Amino acid sequence: MEKEKIEKIVNKHRNEKSAILAILHEVQAEDNQLNSESLRYIARLLGVPYANVYGLATFYSAFGTEKRGKTLVRACDGISCHINGAEEVIEVLKSKLNIEMGQTTWDEAFGLEKVRCLGLCSISPNVSFNDKTYSNLNKEKILEILQTVMGDSK
Ligand code: FES
Repeated sequence: MEKEKIEKIVNKHRNEKSAILAILHEVQAEDNQLNSESLRYIARLLGVPYANVYGLATFYSAFGTEKRGKTLVRACDGISCHINGAEEVIEVLKSKLNIEMGQTTWDEAFGLEKVRCLGLCSISPNVSFNDKTYSNLNKEKILEILQTVMGDSK
């Protein structure tokens, strides 16, 4: 990501209580990733150790330090989702996107990640596509959703 863009984002959030998290969120949303170059620059601009920024970027599952695809698909395989059929949903995702967990499609349109909980256990299983979460999923529903989002991404 260009330095000027990072500077703008840092200046916008600099005085907020959770400045680093807000900055990481916004840089990732713009760039689909948090690479080490961006993290080092954020640390320099904020005057904090690189280790602090890197630590936050790698601690939270919402952040990724590798290219994640334009649409990040986060499939929950926590206990509730698992009991209610997450495995079947995840198999459909892997097979239709033709990637494994942690990978990005060849055209960088989709990244796929497994998460521990999306906070919607009572209506599981759940999968989120960027900021939109789909619940009560089964094989048929996830196939329909994939058809729609894959069509939209072209
Ligand atoms: S376990 Fe999947 S949303 Fe909580």
